[in-house]
Amino acid sequence: MRTLWRLGYSARLLKTNKFGTAAANTSFPAVWMLLARYSGRIPGLFAVVKKNRFFTMPDTVEDKADLELYSPHPGVRGMTQLDREAFKRTVVVPVLKIKKEIVNTLLKSLKHVVLQRPGLKRVVEEPGDEDSRLLILDPRKLPEFSLGESEQEVLKQLNVHPEVSKYNLELTYENFKSEEILRAVLPEGQEVTSGFSRVGHIAHLNLRDHQLPYRHLIGQVIIDKNPGITCVVNKTNIIDSTYRNFQMEVLAGESNLVTKVKENNIVYELDFSKVYWNPRLSTEHSRIVELLKPGDVLFDVFAGIGPFAIPAAKKKCHVFANDLNPESYNWLLHNCKLNKVDKKIKAFNMDGRDFLLGPVREELSKELPLQKEEQKTSFHIVMNLPALATEFLDAFRHLLVREPCGTADLPMVHCYGFSKHENPAKDIQERAEASLGTSLDGRCSTYLVRNVAPNKEMLCISFQIPVDVLYKRPCADEAKPASKRLCTSNEFSEEKFLS
Ligand SMILES: C[S@@+](CC[C@H](N)C(=O)[O-])C[C@H]1O[C@@H](n2cnc3c(N)ncnc32)[C@H](O)[C@@H]1O
Repeated sequence: MRTLWRLGYSARLLKTNKFGTAAANTSFPAVWMLLARYSGRIPGLFAVVKKNRFFTMPDTVEDKADLELYSPHPGVRGMTQLDREAFKRTVVVPVLKIKKEIVNTLLKSLKHVVLQRPGLKRVVEEPGDEDSRLLILDPRKLPEFSLGESEQEVLKQLNVHPEVSKYNLELTYENFKSEEILRAVLPEGQEVTSGFSRVGHIAHLNLRDHQLPYRHLIGQVIIDKNPGITCVVNKTNIIDSTYRNFQMEVLAGESNLVTKVKENNIVYELDFSKVYWNPRLSTEHSRIVELLKPGDVLFDVFAGIGPFAIPAAKKKCHVFANDLNPESYNWLLHNCKLNKVDKKIKAFNMDGRDFLLGPVREELSKELPLQKEEQKTSFHIVMNLPALATEFLDAFRHLLVREPCGTADLPMVHCYGFSKHENPAKDIQERAEASLGTSLDGRCSTYLVRNVAPNKEMLCISFQIPVDVLYKRPCADEAKPASKRLCTSNEFSEEKFLS
C-alpha cells in the first residue's frame, strides 16, 4: 500500500472534494521520492536534488577503473587532521608527443581517448622541446598503452608518429573529488556518504557515529571542494522539540551562523543556530503562496522567519504571522523590513493556540461577516509544525460565535504532519478529524510534501473548516428572510470572546 502510494497512485487514495489540483500534483513528489531512493543509480537525479539545495556525495563511484586511477596516496587512510600534501600520488599515463600546431586538431579528433577530468591538464610541455607538446591519454581507454586502428589512421593523416610513451602524472589534493578523498581517509568498507544541505554559506551535515572521528577533516574537505561554503556544521542531537532548530557543532571554517539565503527570489537573513530554516521546503512555500490572490488574508500560525508570510505579503495579501520562538519573531521582523513588507504583516510572538484563540478569532469575527459576494476574499490558515500541528486543530472548535450572514467562504486550513503510517494520507486525515471532532471525508485534500527519512513522510492536509466546527451556534435569526439577516460587526465584537 505504502509503495503504491509513493508511486503516484496516491491521487486515488486521497479524499478530494474541490481541491483536485493538490491531488494531481502529488505524483511529482512521489516520483521524486522513488528517484531519491535509487539516487545512487540514476545519473540525472543530482540536478533535481541540487534544485532543492541538497547535495550528496555518492555512495558508489560507478567506474571501478576511475576509483583506481584517481585514488589518493594510500598513506592517508585514518588521517584525522587534514594534511593536503599527503594526498599526492603519481600515476603512469600514456602520452603522445605531437607538434604544438596540431594540438587543437588532435584534441578534437582523439577526444574519446584523451584524458578528460576537470582540473587536470590534457596537454603538457615537453621539457627541452619548445615546438612539441605531450597529449595525455586516458589509461582506462588504452590499457595496453597502444592506440587502436582508427586513432592510428587519424595520426597517419596528420603525419604524426603513433608512438605512445609513459608519463608520470602527479595528482594532488586539488585534483581529487570530495568522495575520493573521504573514501581514501575513512576506514575501508565503511560508508563515506554524507549528504549535506546548504543554507547560505553554511553546509549542514548529519554525520553517522563512525564518521565522527573524521568530522573536522570532512568539514574542511567540504569547504575546500565547494566554493561559497565557508562554514560546516554537524547536527549534534535531534531537532529541538520546541523551536525546531538544531543543536550544532561547527566542524570547520568561520563560526558565523548568521547567513543570507534566497528562496523563490526573496532574500532572508537568519541565524541558523537559533531559528528553523529548511531549504527543502521552497517548493512547498511557493505551492501555498500560489493559492493566494491579492487581498486574501493569511494567518501563519508557526511562521518561522517568514517563508510563507513574506511572499504572501509581496503578493498584496494581508498577513498575520506568529512564532513562539523570540529569535524567529525577531528575524521575521527583520526580514519583513528587508523585503519592505513590514507594513503589510502583523507579527506576533505567542503560542500558536493563543494566536488562534486571540488575533485569528478577532480578525475572522470582524471580517467574515463583512464579506460581500463581489469581494470574495479568501482566508487561509497555514500550520507548519509537522510534529504537532494537528493537535492545535481543536482550537477551531466553536472558535466563532455566529455564522456569517453574508456569503463568505469559510477559512481554508493547510496543516502539516509527519506520518510513518503505511497509508500516510489516511493517517493525517484521521488525526485531523480526531482533533476537529468531525469527519473530513470528501472535504479535504492531502498533499505529499517530501520524504523526510526512510518510511517517514511530511504531508499537508487542506480543508475548509466545516461550519459546524467553526461556529458555536447558528444565527439566532436564521428563520428571517435573507435580506433581514445581516449581522453587524458590532454584534460580533460584543460576543467575540464568549465561546
Ligand atoms: C517547522 S518550523 C516552520 C517555520 C516556517 N513556517 C517554515 O515553513 O519554514 C515551525 C516553527 O514553529 C515555531 N513553533 C514551535 N512551537 C510553537 C508554538 N507552540 N506556537 C507557535 N510557534 C511555534 C518554531 O519556533 C518554528 O519556527
